[in-house]
Amino acid sequence: MSYVLGVDLGTSSLKGLVVDREGQVVASASKDYPLLHPQTGYSEQDPQEWLDAFVDVVQQLTTKVADFTKELEGISFSGQMHSLVVLDENEQVLRPAILWNDVRTTKQCQEIMATFGETLLSITKNRALEGFTLPKILWIQENEPAVWQQVRHMMLPKDYLGFWLSGTMHMDYSDAAGTLLLDEEKKEWSDSILDRFAIPKAYLPELIDSTGMIGTLRQELTAQFGFEKEVQLFAGGADNACAAAGAGILDDKTAMASIGTSGVFLSLENSAEQDYQGKLHLFNHVVKDRFYSMGVTLAAGHSLNWFKETFAPQQSFDELLAEIPTIPAGANGLLFSPYIVGERTPHVDSKIRGSFIGMDTTHTLSHFARAVLEGITFSLKDSQVLMEQVAGKSFKKVVSVGGGAKNAAWLQIQADIFDADILCLEAEQGPGLGAAMLAAVGLGWYASLPECAETFVSYLPAVHPNKEAVEQYQKLYAIYREIYPATKEICHQLNEY
Ligand code: XUL
Repeated sequence: MSYVLGVDLGTSSLKGLVVDREGQVVASASKDYPLLHPQTGYSEQDPQEWLDAFVDVVQQLTTKVADFTKELEGISFSGQMHSLVVLDENEQVLRPAILWNDVRTTKQCQEIMATFGETLLSITKNRALEGFTLPKILWIQENEPAVWQQVRHMMLPKDYLGFWLSGTMHMDYSDAAGTLLLDEEKKEWSDSILDRFAIPKAYLPELIDSTGMIGTLRQELTAQFGFEKEVQLFAGGADNACAAAGAGILDDKTAMASIGTSGVFLSLENSAEQDYQGKLHLFNHVVKDRFYSMGVTLAAGHSLNWFKETFAPQQSFDELLAEIPTIPAGANGLLFSPYIVGERTPHVDSKIRGSFIGMDTTHTLSHFARAVLEGITFSLKDSQVLMEQVAGKSFKKVVSVGGGAKNAAWLQIQADIFDADILCLEAEQGPGLGAAMLAAVGLGWYASLPECAETFVSYLPAVHPNKEAVEQYQKLYAIYREIYPATKEICHQLNEY
């Protein structure tokens, strides 16, 4: 039996999935690592942690799977997006990586958008946001000139791991798109952006398709791990793109709703021509010459966690959500907006805050819990509506992944609010499965990602929308849309206190 290893280099851990040719996940292992917060708003990580975690995960998998070292043929990667790794001329890491969830770069984003915003948007299809890579590069230029002088290579986390494993520097298009340095349509580093911000092109890795081979595992590591075959390494992709591939989002008819700490509503785009004016992210996909649009709800699962910890810390999630099916759609006139840490889509607003609107004496803890689930889902619907209105899409199916897929009542709420059949994966594995698929296609086991998905991805029976609830939610959603404009000024003022 031959295996591929799908590596998911996340924000808090690295996970490895051993997958066979039939798409069966034979074993998985993970290793946590810390986030560093040297100042408020800063989020960093020591790249060495990723390498150590990879070694640990390979060792765990070697113990778990008897023929792992004998049969491993290929490895590919899914990576946390946007996070900046800088190396010097000796290929040594110069400073901790600045991560996607670091928000120190507001000033750089404002400068970019004020002086170069429209050009940037037309080339990269995205606005400058604190999380993206270009503002982080400008921050180093401005605040750490001694570091900037020594920089000779820049890459993203999974590419640093790929470099350590192979000795070659590459970056695939889906991750390159999140740097704000890529001309997404031409699929090349943008000279005008690089020139404008005095970034030498030679600092950037070679661009490659996600299923492209970046090299083979270094001899020394092959011996250290005891692998018997020559292990081929494939570029991999951005975590959201890999999650989409692992969920089978390989055409533009089906969307993905992913509810983790943050929430993502994502769909495939056949071209980068759709003009969302930066309201949605638009990135190159791991599927060759395809793109995906994506909206982000910053506090999705985070809102529910916050609600539970604050108002029902003694209850389990199952207990908290047990009564939800008995509460009517709309929670008897109670709405929640999930802006508890600000918002990204559709309102890029770091100062907006959440609200419960419509409270009365009949409302119980379960009404509030239902309102939280509905509010999170309405926020994801905002992204769905942008795709429908701007691109004329209509989704008959939405694949639900993450925490939102784990509760039957929430799945029904999603079906009714999205007005679509909701599909859950038979064995959800997250972005690591997408990474394994990239290796499987790279090795030539399958001719394409869609062909691979036929074997690797399967769904449970769909949850169908309920017509009556769909109509009710349409009315409630119109009211929900009023919350942002109605509370914006109040929240901005409260932010001063
Ligand atoms: C996407 C984003 C996050 C990261 C998490 O723009 O910032 O989803 O990809 O790794």
